[in-house]
Amino acid sequence: MRPARALIDLDALVHNYRHARRLGGGRALAVVKADAYGHGAAACARALDGEADGFGVACIEEALELREAGIRAPILLLEGFFEAAELALIERHDLWTVVASPWQVEALERHRAAKPLQAWVKLDSGMHRLGLAPAEFNDAWRRLRALEGIGDMVAMTHFARADEIANERTDEQLDAFDRALGGLPPDTPTSAANSAGLLAWPRARRGWVRPGLMLYGTHMLDGPCVEADALRPVMRLESRVIAVRELAAGEPIGYGGGFVTGRPTRVGVVAMGYADGFAQYAPAGTPVLVGGRRSRLIGRVSMDMLTVDLTDHPDADVGTPVELWGPDLPVAEVAAHCGSSPYRLLSGLKRVAREYLGG
Ligand SMILES: Cc1ncc(COP(=O)(O)O)c(C=O)c1O
Repeated sequence: MRPARALIDLDALVHNYRHARRLGGGRALAVVKADAYGHGAAACARALDGEADGFGVACIEEALELREAGIRAPILLLEGFFEAAELALIERHDLWTVVASPWQVEALERHRAAKPLQAWVKLDSGMHRLGLAPAEFNDAWRRLRALEGIGDMVAMTHFARADEIANERTDEQLDAFDRALGGLPPDTPTSAANSAGLLAWPRARRGWVRPGLMLYGTHMLDGPCVEADALRPVMRLESRVIAVRELAAGEPIGYGGGFVTGRPTRVGVVAMGYADGFAQYAPAGTPVLVGGRRSRLIGRVSMDMLTVDLTDHPDADVGTPVELWGPDLPVAEVAAHCGSSPYRLLSGLKRVAREYLGG
């Protein structure tokens, strides 16, 4: 059997969710879009079922997967609906929807609802991706509030740069959010913080928080944060050495021959490649753990294999375990070496078998 696999520690996931919820001080929507950032949405949602106040997904297909997995908790479509025809499904499966564009307000006005639908109305407070402009927001809110088919409503926004802990943009976004809230009843439920907002911006902890990345035990904050230190990595991506060879100095390794040994080198071949979702662009020097000890990638990552330097690992041999990231090698550190992000590395995984622990 191919030894590449992702071990998912569901106890760590629950720990991180509880940490997020406690920190937020209110309710917490567990963001499990993109197959729970590569961890398996159904298994992660089941582990959090009965615990999480709700789940956040990117689209109706992801929501239905959770419903089919038996998840009865609220599920919010973070990007709303993509066409009015989805409203029937939203109603049938008791989903919550974000409303972020004027056309969605109009579609809801035309929709004949059999039961009230929960709407999270999103303000573009400065990220300029999804969301109603400040000039549109209060009017949209009033129009939706007037509809019989709309039940509870939450005012929400999303941050662009909350991981930059000294960047004033997050405060400016919160100021814009507060200005918009000024036109709504004071007891209006609100939601602002993603993981970085929750961890690093106490002012953003209000109402509902929406942690995603931190649930999986990592973050992208650009400075120290004690609240982030309490997170436990959820995934260990691992494989094994499947072949070992000794090369003289001056020998190229792998496709393209771009990496040339600078010294006599013991090379380990590991069953992990870009068809597993591992970064094809990971450069030589990217850290890996071989038998629990640090080593580094050498040579280009290929589809099913990669090569590591075992020169200083005389005990490593065929069968030695390799950790690509996990509790002993932070995925954020690996991502930094690759010029990538933990979001991209985790959610990009494919083919590797997942095994679940705890939960
Ligand atoms: C609207 C919204 N809320 C929350 C999240 C979770 O963000 P993070 O993974 O940074 O916690 C996302 C993710 O992109 C999102 O789009």
